[in-house]
Amino acid sequence: MSTRGAWSSRAGFILAGAGSAIGLGNIWRFPYMTGDNGGAVFALVFLIFCFLIGYPVMIAELTLGRHTQKNPVGMFNSLSGGRPLWKLVGGLCVLSGFIIFSWYSVIAGWVVGYVYKTAVGTFETQLSNEAIDRIFSSFVSNGPVVMLLHAVMIFMAAFVVSGGVKGGIEKFSKWLMPVLFALLILLAIRSVTLDGAMEGLRFYLYPDFSKVSGVMVLKAMGQALFSLSLGMGTMITYGSYLSKKENIATSAAWITSFDVLVSILAGFVILPAVAAMHQSYAQGPDLIFKVLPSIFGSMPGGYFFGLGFFTLVIIAALTSTVSILEVPVAYFVDERGWSRKQAVAFVASLAWLIGTPAALSHGATEFLTRLPAIGISFFDFISTAFGDISLSIGAFFIAVFIAWIWGVSKASNEIESEGNSFVIRGIWSFLIKFVAPIIILAVFLYTIWTTFLAS
Ligand code: TRP
Repeated sequence: MSTRGAWSSRAGFILAGAGSAIGLGNIWRFPYMTGDNGGAVFALVFLIFCFLIGYPVMIAELTLGRHTQKNPVGMFNSLSGGRPLWKLVGGLCVLSGFIIFSWYSVIAGWVVGYVYKTAVGTFETQLSNEAIDRIFSSFVSNGPVVMLLHAVMIFMAAFVVSGGVKGGIEKFSKWLMPVLFALLILLAIRSVTLDGAMEGLRFYLYPDFSKVSGVMVLKAMGQALFSLSLGMGTMITYGSYLSKKENIATSAAWITSFDVLVSILAGFVILPAVAAMHQSYAQGPDLIFKVLPSIFGSMPGGYFFGLGFFTLVIIAALTSTVSILEVPVAYFVDERGWSRKQAVAFVASLAWLIGTPAALSHGATEFLTRLPAIGISFFDFISTAFGDISLSIGAFFIAVFIAWIWGVSKASNEIESEGNSFVIRGIWSFLIKFVAPIIILAVFLYTIWTTFLAS
């Protein structure tokens, strides 16, 4: 145990957990997914899933991790007695970690590029939409540059993770998240007071239920899990460094609430500005890169706000990438007996290779930008397959495992160890046994039905 490292304090753990959860998922992915999928109704379904599925699954992951002190593969192995199905699920967690790490760092690399652009004054004045579009497209279609920035992000994450748990991850999470939060509030105020912002507020706040579809609900569920870092064992791994003294249910409640709050705020920053700038909501992963420069261009001191904001987003992204990378690394260290440095070097190099097609799928390579047959970019394909679908599958099996294989009473005992209270024991048991797995299954069936069979 002592060689695995541990969190130094309760606040340290909550901040590290929140550092994992809060990242590009909130600031970049949530606004564009909301924009792509009908606005308020997506945000509403997302919120419901965060509390109905996300929160109970977070408790489940932390509990499984703390009890076994292991990475996902080791955890499933030891609690199931090595049954093949659960080996497979553990393997899926590690695989998702690899893939998500590799494309997440692509976007984080874009943000690094935007820090540079802001620093040299590109967005100091209010530019036209066309000019902003042009700047963005020529940036993301420049293969060598995006590949280099991708490498920079991977290198930074690798550096933090090879430093071990306490020294590396925790230090980064402690001070900067509150500053990011304050900046988001300021930017949201700027955004909603722009001329024409009302239309965007309406889009964000008044649900249009005709926009409900299987794919939309599946994506809202995936986004809830993605944003809370669930479904691939990040929280299992983080839980394995957690002391028995901590109250898991309370910590998870804090992490969930912070995370949801940041997503909602990011929506208030981006969507009203989209309307004010007469842009389209449905711009996919490009959205914030086309909207934020306009916001900064339209506010006094925009140069410094822009610089500060993009820098903090890199740090938020870094504390998240670090937690994703930690999963495959913990696997190689615990299960294969590699040294931490070896594991980091291996996973990071492979992730750079795997992420390269995702980096090149925004104009640098025609084929990857528009995959034949499905017509979406390689990036979007991987984002849906691993960011939404595989996390939902992972969360389903984690819920089934803790509720039906290991058992809620053993889990509750673990949560209540050292006299911790678990007031929602009954509610949690019900959610994790029935609600979470049944909803996840139902969403899959509904999506398959509405997408492939009903037409
Ligand atoms: N939750 C992080 C974000 O919103 C990303 C992240 C970290 C993640 N760990 C994860 C996503 C595990 C899925 C699974 O930016």
